[in-house]
Amino acid sequence: MPKSDSVLVADEVTKIFRVRQGFASREFRAVDEASFEIDLTRPEIFTIAGESGSGKTTLARMFLGLETPTHGVLSYKGRSVADLGEKEKRNWFFKEVQPVFQDPFAAFSPLKRIDSYLYETALNYKMTDKRGVDAYIDKTLAEVGLTLAEIKGRYPNELSGGQAQRVAIARALLTRPSLIVADEPVSMLDASLRMSIVNMFRKLKDEQQVTFLYVTHDLATAFYSADRIAVMLRGWIVEMGPVEQVLGNPKHPYTINLKESIPQADPDKAWDMKTSLVELETDEYMRVGCRYAGRCPAVMDICRQKSPPTVEHEGRQVKCFLYE
Ligand SMILES: Nc1ncnc2c1ncn2[C@@H]1O[C@H](COP(=O)(O)OP(=O)(O)OP(=O)(O)O)[C@@H](O)[C@H]1O
Ligand SMILES: [Mg+2]
Repeated sequence: MPKSDSVLVADEVTKIFRVRQGFASREFRAVDEASFEIDLTRPEIFTIAGESGSGKTTLARMFLGLETPTHGVLSYKGRSVADLGEKEKRNWFFKEVQPVFQDPFAAFSPLKRIDSYLYETALNYKMTDKRGVDAYIDKTLAEVGLTLAEIKGRYPNELSGGQAQRVAIARALLTRPSLIVADEPVSMLDASLRMSIVNMFRKLKDEQQVTFLYVTHDLATAFYSADRIAVMLRGWIVEMGPVEQVLGNPKHPYTINLKESIPQADPDKAWDMKTSLVELETDEYMRVGCRYAGRCPAVMDICRQKSPPTVEHEGRQVKCFLYE
């Protein structure tokens, strides 16, 4: 067991939202008892995959301290993220845990030179002094395949989407984080660029010892980049384990269905969960029993009566009565 001061632990993390329904309002569990552990001394790419509305962003935002769990505890290096004070967040947590978002252009003001973000981050976090700052930024940009000369003085709209996302990743790397939480970081990029960015995550993991929490609905990039994967469905983690087990030999009927629905011929569409989506049906959240029961080809009577247990089965965890 790794020491608690080097792990990230999600212990039955639950986020309940209220939604209006006519004159009434009702609660639903956007993330429902998510539990897992990541040993930060052994960097990995931990992927959270799932169709639209499955709770991926909500979970990622709790990791970043931007959202507070309703129940359960999310702890980073032995500290509950929700209980950190402003000062600890600023001086410690935000340095250790960095975000990368979907749209690189939304992260940068169009009126501000893009390099100014790098200077601010490097100097505010005291990663270097004024004399060394150019060299430090240049070195960090090299880790994402760019140079300071290439971007210096330029505005965000003068960069391609791929370049802007590389700058956003470099900005995250400047504080030498242990964890980067990347929410759909490649979904706005061309298919040809996606793999180069996720391959870069692998390289950074090995060379910079950074763990990635990689959120995606695209199973192809997950398959090639991830060490472990958690498949989410309506707030539940339905299957979780090493990617070669979970995607190579899926056990949950939902994961099996996802794998079968991959259109082999079209690499652009391959494994994109959005292509196999049925319309978001919030009723699935409220249903008694399994949230997949209405769509599951292997459904049994019990699945409509109680929530399935999470069991260990063939090298992964699976939330399904079939393996009880
Ligand atoms: N602040 C909020 N208030 C109420 N409901 C919310 C809020 N944020 C998210 N939700 C709902 O919670 C559910 C999960 O949303 P979330 O954004 O986490 O899904 P996601 O898996 O990231 O989806 P996508 O792939 O579309 O990004 C959705 O039904 C969403 O509408
Ligand atoms: Mg999302």
